[in-house]
Amino acid sequence: MSICFLNNEYVLLSEAKVSVLDRGFIFGDAVYEVLPGFGGKFFALAQHLERLNDNLNKVSIDPPYSSKEWEELLATLSEKNGNSDLSFYIQVTRGVAERNHFFPMDCEPTVFVMCTNLKSSSNPLIKSCITRSDNRWGRCDIKTTSLLPNLMLKNEALLSDAFEVILLKNGMLTEGASSNVFVVSKGRVKTPEVSNFILPGVTRDFVLQVLNELGITCERRTVITAELFDACEIWLTSSTNDLIGINLLNGKPVGNGQEYPMLERVSSAFTEAKMRSLTS
Ligand SMILES: Cc1ncc(COP(=O)(O)O)c(C=O)c1O
Repeated sequence: MSICFLNNEYVLLSEAKVSVLDRGFIFGDAVYEVLPGFGGKFFALAQHLERLNDNLNKVSIDPPYSSKEWEELLATLSEKNGNSDLSFYIQVTRGVAERNHFFPMDCEPTVFVMCTNLKSSSNPLIKSCITRSDNRWGRCDIKTTSLLPNLMLKNEALLSDAFEVILLKNGMLTEGASSNVFVVSKGRVKTPEVSNFILPGVTRDFVLQVLNELGITCERRTVITAELFDACEIWLTSSTNDLIGINLLNGKPVGNGQEYPMLERVSSAFTEAKMRSLTS
């Protein structure tokens, strides 16, 4: 049974309890972060902690810990869970208070961290996707636990035997319900620029860095729907799956649905760079 961290204590996950008045439970008044760790070494730790702090600032929750304290906490939790390959889930809620929409004045944030085993997979994974209209709110740059729109979209993917939903807003690509999207056509790689309509993915940034090191230009700009449907390759990026290739979009093959030359090149460079960059 895994050990988690809750409000300064390391406890069995099955025994961790929070108040029903926690604003995370009542309102989804919380932000979160997910990062992978391999044998006690973390991938892109500084970038994940920076995004966590940005998100806490955006929703006016005082950061409970310094980067050093987060690092120590994660290292301790990793050790208590056998230092295997783990995905770490960090959640910070505004805390426990009488139910009221206004942000309470004196509220101690609830801090919860748990980890789950990372599934090993062949790299890159190949999956199918559907598209849907992006009906989420206008602050998708905030990694909040209020994920009901994303869950409803993901469930549509499940019902269509697809892995992910690629979202379209006003004729433009935004992102996946839990991933960022890259599109390749005519030898050019494109991805939507960060805005309040997408999450600034840590993996997206790392892929951009890898592309740069490989001398492959990536256009960071508006990607229109036609470019998505005309693509010869589509990739999804996220911290738990790295890079995933899409073979079918709405049941139709992407490119010839079988070959992913650019993805294979970028994916192997990504894995090498990732392993080199692991920090303990
Ligand atoms: C909506 C959304 N976009 C993008 C991502 C990818 O972000 P990252 O690469 O930091 O995991 C996620 C990850 O969960 C997500 O939920």
